[in-house]
Amino acid sequence: MKLIRFCCAIAALIAAGIAQAGHELENRDLALGERLYAEQCAACHGTNLEGEPNWSQPNADGTFPAPPHDETGHTWHHDNGVLFTYTALGGQGAAEQWGITGFVSGMPGFGETLEDDEIWAILAYIRSTWSEDIQALQASRNPPHD
Ligand code: HEC
Repeated sequence: MKLIRFCCAIAALIAAGIAQAGHELENRDLALGERLYAEQCAACHGTNLEGEPNWSQPNADGTFPAPPHDETGHTWHHDNGVLFTYTALGGQGAAEQWGITGFVSGMPGFGETLEDDEIWAILAYIRSTWSEDIQALQASRNPPHD
């Protein structure tokens, strides 16, 4: 009996930790995110987040087409910090931040054109289109942080 209670307490703590870790995407303005997605992202990532055709095959110049943000892509494989950095700095800027030089990317940086809150709203909108299972998986990839 005691053991069961202990396990439940641990499970609750882990669940709380995951919720805490994914907190940047909580309570965001999803309508704003949807509008900004349509204005700023849909031209490349698709109106329905479907990405460009053959997105996993490199272009002739070695860059990649824009991947989907729906469940068929790998956006949900990344933690919130990675998604934010990629959107704010663009592919090349993010790679440089992570110590990778010489990476040529078709993903522009939006840190100059969008406020931080606007980027979070877009990412929250993208997340809101995923099933609960995928949302939970993505949340589990967010290391605990303030
Ligand atoms: C000009 C085309 C273009 C626009 C506009 C664009 N992207 Fe991208 N994006 C790309 C490409 C191309 C990639 C593929 C990764 C690479 O080559 O760096 C990408 C990759 C990404 C990734 C990484 C996805 C992953 O699975 O690794 C995120 C996150 C992302 N974009 C978010 C956004 C958001 C949010 C917007 C709108 C604010 C946006 N992008 C607008 C072209 C674009």
